[in-house]
Amino acid sequence: MSTALQGKNILLGITGGIASYKSAILARRLIDAGADVRVVMTQGAQAFITPLTFQALTGNPVHTDLLDPAAEAAMGHIELARWADYVLIAPATANVMARLANGLADDLLTTCCLATDAPLAIAPAMNRLMWSNAATQANLATLEARGTTIIGPGAGEQACGEVGAGRMSEPETIRDALAAAIASTANTSAPNHNSSKELQGKSFVITAGPTEEAIDPVRFISNRSSGKMGFALAAAAQQMGADVTLIAGPVALDTPAHVKRIDVKTADEMLENALKAVNNTDVFIAVAAVADYKVAKFSREKIKKTDDELTLELVRNPDILKTVAALEHRPFCVGFAAETENLEKNAQSKLKKKKLDMIAANQVGQQNNPVFGSDTNSLSVYWGNNKHQIAPAAKFDVAQQLLKLIANQITLNK
Ligand code: C5P
Repeated sequence: MSTALQGKNILLGITGGIASYKSAILARRLIDAGADVRVVMTQGAQAFITPLTFQALTGNPVHTDLLDPAAEAAMGHIELARWADYVLIAPATANVMARLANGLADDLLTTCCLATDAPLAIAPAMNRLMWSNAATQANLATLEARGTTIIGPGAGEQACGEVGAGRMSEPETIRDALAAAIASTANTSAPNHNSSKELQGKSFVITAGPTEEAIDPVRFISNRSSGKMGFALAAAAQQMGADVTLIAGPVALDTPAHVKRIDVKTADEMLENALKAVNNTDVFIAVAAVADYKVAKFSREKIKKTDDELTLELVRNPDILKTVAALEHRPFCVGFAAETENLEKNAQSKLKKKKLDMIAANQVGQQNNPVFGSDTNSLSVYWGNNKHQIAPAAKFDVAQQLLKLIANQITLNK
């Protein structure tokens, strides 16, 4: 679990969107990460979910009214605004974005936002046309220019039945983005203030997730990779100042802010896109769990079941990392090795065989360390004759530590 939220006072603003049902889980995730959460709900939000839900989850009274003398006597809007270390609005409707952009203070939430010097993060959620509307985009630009952290929105199927951008990010994504924003604020105010931007000017290409190798129109070969580690690396590298291209297999994850994402299915497509993307790139990190085999012959028709056994002929997929590492002008190449046994020996042998600059290995398949799909990870990192252990932590924190090792090496190798 990230430590950035530990002991932090988070004022969680909830506005009137259907995505507010996810805010209950978000409140829980923030509390699990050690934050003290107080909730402010707009009138609209209360049409979707009740204050009682959040009172029960946070153990704190929920604030709804600006002009209620009893509520003001208990903890008034100025006290709430002072109490907050960070204000997070999730979901943030188009309406609240417009009110914030224009400095309105016509309810408790917007008044708190004006009355606080705490940083603000918003997770927008709305219909795709409302999101792409020029007015919303102008309000977004205003808020961004003022330093508001914008989390999402994701794209996909919406509650209104349409498909497009405007879906609120998942609670875990919002929690991690908030933790990252808090961590980078802490880094910026620390004396060594460049530490959070140590990848400024560097370009990264990262592969993530599984690949999917079709057998016939309805079946495929794939694996359990969730893509979370690769996405965490992409988000962390971008926050450390890098220009990031993320080549993702089929995963259900939001694109990290300001990251260029290329979606692929097969290993061949991943290779093709990686080779295009790595030209003039500083670092290539292969986190994808590429299927080692694909079927020799894709069947255009669904394969019929019979009483006999079925034998599929499989052929090797290209090794994307090895191919990139063999390029004449290759980037700094980092591999991942998921091992069930002999972690160090197998990782070292891959480091040499694939001619890598660094390899990050993790033990998989153990009951107490499933890794796949998990939000945490730990790594043993090897390069040259060196090794470094990254202790179990949230994948985002692990990503930051690995990127610091990479940053040191690319600076030394210059
Ligand atoms: O050989 P193995 O699959 O264990 O190597 C793992 C590393 O190689 C990972 O970094 C993975 O992303 C990369 N890899 C690849 N293309 C493959 C197989 C693995 O890029 N076909």
